[in-house]
Amino acid sequence: MIYSEKVMDHFTNPRNVGEIEDADGVGMVGNAKCGDIMKIYLKIDENDIITDCKFKTFGCGAAIATSSMATELIKGHSVEEALKLTNSAVVEALEGLPPVKVHCSVLAEEAVKTAVADYYKKIGRPVDFEIENAEHDEGVED
Ligand code: FES
Repeated sequence: MIYSEKVMDHFTNPRNVGEIEDADGVGMVGNAKCGDIMKIYLKIDENDIITDCKFKTFGCGAAIATSSMATELIKGHSVEEALKLTNSAVVEALEGLPPVKVHCSVLAEEAVKTAVADYYKKIGRPVDFEIENAEHDEGVED
C-alpha cells in the first residue's frame, strides 16, 4: 500500500496527541469492524473558537494520521467551521488515502462532530446536526 508523504509525516510525527483534562467537549467514536477507537478533546472559548484540541487514537496508521490532520484543521477555528470538516477534506489535506483506508478518515470527522455535540449539550445548545456512524458505513461516500 502506498501512503503519501503527508500521511507518513502525520503518522510518524502526529500533532496534538494527548488529552485535555478540563475539555469543553469530548468525542469518542469507534469503528466496530476494525475495532479502532478515536477520542478528541476540545477547548472552546466564549466566542466558540477552538483554542486547543488534542486526540488519542487506538487504531491504524491512517486513523492516527487523520486524527492528527483533523486537529490541525480545526484548531483556531470556530465550532461552526469544525462541523463543516468532512472526511474528504481531511483526506485531501493528507494528499490522499488508499480507498480501503478512507473509513479511517470518517472516524476523524465523526470524532470532531461528537466532541462538538458534547460541547453543545454542556452549554444547553440544541444539537442540530447529524453524525455519521462508521459502524454501519464503509465510509465510501464523501
Ligand atoms: Fe480502523 Fe483505520 S483500520 S480506523
